[in-house]
Amino acid sequence: MSRSIIITGGAGFIGSHVVRLFVNKYPDYRIINLDKLTYAGNLANLKDIEDKPNYKFVKMDICDFEGIYKLMQDEKVDGIIHLAAESHVDRSIKDPFTFARTNVMGTLSLLQAAKLYWESLPEGYEGKMFYHISTDEVYGALAMNHPEGIEPPFSTRASSGKHHLAYGDEFFRETTKYNPHSPYSASKASSDLFVRAYHDTYGMPTIVTNCSNNYGPYQFPEKLIPLFINNIRQRKPLPVYGKGENVRDWLYVEDHARAIDLIFHKGRASETYNIGGFNEWKNIDLIELLIKTTDRLLGRPEGADLDLITYVTDRPGHDERYAIDSSKLQRELGWEPSLQFEEGLEKTVRWYLENQEWMDTVTSGEYLRYYREMYGER
Ligand code: NAD
Ligand code: TYD
Repeated sequence: MSRSIIITGGAGFIGSHVVRLFVNKYPDYRIINLDKLTYAGNLANLKDIEDKPNYKFVKMDICDFEGIYKLMQDEKVDGIIHLAAESHVDRSIKDPFTFARTNVMGTLSLLQAAKLYWESLPEGYEGKMFYHISTDEVYGALAMNHPEGIEPPFSTRASSGKHHLAYGDEFFRETTKYNPHSPYSASKASSDLFVRAYHDTYGMPTIVTNCSNNYGPYQFPEKLIPLFINNIRQRKPLPVYGKGENVRDWLYVEDHARAIDLIFHKGRASETYNIGGFNEWKNIDLIELLIKTTDRLLGRPEGADLDLITYVTDRPGHDERYAIDSSKLQRELGWEPSLQFEEGLEKTVRWYLENQEWMDTVTSGEYLRYYREMYGER
């Protein structure tokens, strides 16, 4: 095997796409999926590659420093791609401690295990990489000084559809000061800073990337898009927070995974790269498109389910607008999103409707019971 890589959080939404890409694209790499299998981790996300000879699953908590150190020694690990995290803002508002434990202490225990193992080798850090996956939410919120939308200064394949607007003059850049608001984004910001500290203090080769909102298959249905597709199918209310005017910048998950592959191999150590599609949507506009697309694919009159929209109390501290400037990544490494948003959304809706069994198992908690029996309590 030419490389031995731990991908943490590989049983989750984005992690499963990254694991699949690496296992299929690099048969000569050993890919170790290290995941605790929390409520968000599901090995059914990886059924198609679980028997590949270059793939191994290890059930482990990223806070288990000794376990990680031993695994790194046993598997002669030379790269870590770190996605494991508690990832849902609403949960972080209810239970911030779990976010600090996993996102901060877990990242720190991975860093320290990598440091001790790599520094014990004759070649030291040469040929090693600690790649930390983070979010645009660490930058805080941008002002919405153009609520009606303006012609954006950038354009990509993701944003090339009918809807192509920016809602403010500012964008998150790699140089934007961190200003997290939710316990989730505060914990991610803290983990990003620890990763940088390991580069600056010990010389560990590290990369941090901050990506915008992802969508696509295998996303846990507590997040906006899969939750709403499932509710539309069942004709259940769609809880829209506040006035539905918050803006998010959406990227198809496989485009994120391709960016991670490119940056892991070609990115410059110690650098930060922003990843996004210049694809801003007000929640309510996205939700209307989602309803129409789902109705059409279900054979219902388009828009028949618009009456499911139900405005509910806003999320506390709800960030107004996220918009990523990913031009550094495009300029330096030539990355571009491959899917236009309306195409990606249709593909996503189709996937959830065709994989009803996946959705039913996840929402019934059946898979939690199954893995509890297989691996014990968690
Ligand atoms: P997810 O919640 O779907 O998956 C997280 C995975 O991490 C799960 O498989 C879970 O079992 C595992 N995990 C959680 N705690 C663990 C622990 N203590 N030890 C080992 N494994 C543990 O998350 P996601 O949406 O796929 O996000 C992956 C990463 O990408 C996160 O770091 C997140 O901050 C970041 N990110 C997500 C988005 C997004 O839109 N989803 C956008 C930008 C960045
Ligand atoms: P979410 O998918 O939770 O991602 P994030 O909070 O990381 O951006 O939410 C996306 C947007 O949708 C966010 O502005 C909150 C809003 N939202 C709702 O209006 N209703 C919901 O039920 C959910 C889950 C989210």
